[in-house]
Amino acid sequence: MDLAGTRHITAAAVEETTSVQHAVIDAFTPAWRHDPYRSYDVLRAAGPFVPGLLGPHLVPGYAECDAILQNPAWSHAEESELLHPDSDVELPGSFLWMEPPDHTRLRGLVSKAFTPRRIEGMRGHAERVVADLLDKALAAGEVDLVEAFAYPLPLTMVCELLGVPESEHAAIRRMSAGIARGLDPDVLMSTDELANRTAAVGEFLDFFGALVAERRARPRQDLISALAQVEAEDDRLTAAEMLGTLLVLVVAGHETTVNLISNGILALIRHPDQFELLRQQPDLALPAVDEMLRYDAPAQLTTRTARQEITVSGRTFASGDSLILILGSANRDPQAFTDPDRLDLTRYAQRGRVNRHLAFGLGLHYCIGASLVRLEVEVALRAIAARVSAFTLLADPPRYRPNLVVRGMSELPVRLSA
Ligand code: HEM
Repeated sequence: MDLAGTRHITAAAVEETTSVQHAVIDAFTPAWRHDPYRSYDVLRAAGPFVPGLLGPHLVPGYAECDAILQNPAWSHAEESELLHPDSDVELPGSFLWMEPPDHTRLRGLVSKAFTPRRIEGMRGHAERVVADLLDKALAAGEVDLVEAFAYPLPLTMVCELLGVPESEHAAIRRMSAGIARGLDPDVLMSTDELANRTAAVGEFLDFFGALVAERRARPRQDLISALAQVEAEDDRLTAAEMLGTLLVLVVAGHETTVNLISNGILALIRHPDQFELLRQQPDLALPAVDEMLRYDAPAQLTTRTARQEITVSGRTFASGDSLILILGSANRDPQAFTDPDRLDLTRYAQRGRVNRHLAFGLGLHYCIGASLVRLEVEVALRAIAARVSAFTLLADPPRYRPNLVVRGMSELPVRLSA
């Protein structure tokens, strides 16, 4: 068992362990990042609450994850304390990690940028970006799809939404990768990665602090200008809250979408019948996005802490008890989905018949960017269906980043034909 990349899980700790304990370790081990799903099967079979490595129990099943996410008595505000006790840098507070009334106030301000009309208004831009990226990839013939397609599309879209100039995209990418890695539990990171997170957060705060000041002085039609105006004119948004909000929009928003695109294309390559179906029926592109989110969730886990005594599936938790919800496992739960390990692009084509997936969370913190993600990835899949006849995987399995929370490939080398 390769435990490279973990600092506190020693070889001694994995000796004499049961298969469930092995599955717990494997689910958190970089060596199994390419396929954590068999470990999740073992965890679900072991029961609804499985003792974890970090203290809190793991929650691998759909029914429990669904119930906990929907119950506001479970808070998300303690995640930093839980996963980042070693942090020497305070990740700026975002409403992702707040509870009402602050959560309601901040989410209300940002949700104005995500109205269906505004998101639909970005379709033309997404189509142009996708067409340009595909032109280049098809001309090259062999590419790393993460680099050539999955990364630039969401980066361009989120920068467009916020109002970050194109000349700064490379800097945003560098900072955001360092911070996304830093969303993992501290115990799973090397000293260098922790230092890199500190540097990336510092760089992010300096960069966006300066950009906000610039937009406050010379506003444009973008989200940063709108938020800078609110911050300057009334007391609904502090400077720190604005930077925290921008951090989540950039990092949690765009790194996840990169993974959805690359995980989704890999799933199509591994299910040629489904790729052919998409080529025959391009209108499956939108339901396909949800099936790809279910099949290989880009955000694999989240945490919740009880704010009062709560009973879930017959077990009572005291106020202050924390849990790690494995969304990626809940989405493969055979109790919730027929044939869960099969990619079925028609699964979400008939609304109401299938359990919703949990890849965007649920309840109070349901992903604010869900409609933007659906638009971007639908546009990408339609273009792929129309223009690509075949993909050949050039490395199998492809290389994965060590990231556990925001999980995905570091490269996806393919040959593609028009
Ligand atoms: C495939 C792409 C994405 C996935 C899988 C994803 C996943 C998630 C999940 C699971 C949550 C809830 C976490 C929890 O309850 O603990 C969440 C919340 C959030 N997401 Fe996303 N996300 C994606 C893209 C985006 C994008 C593009 C944006 C914005 C540009 C965004 C912004 C947010 C924000 C601001 C929250 C916090 C919402 C709240 O606390 O009220 N996400 N996302």
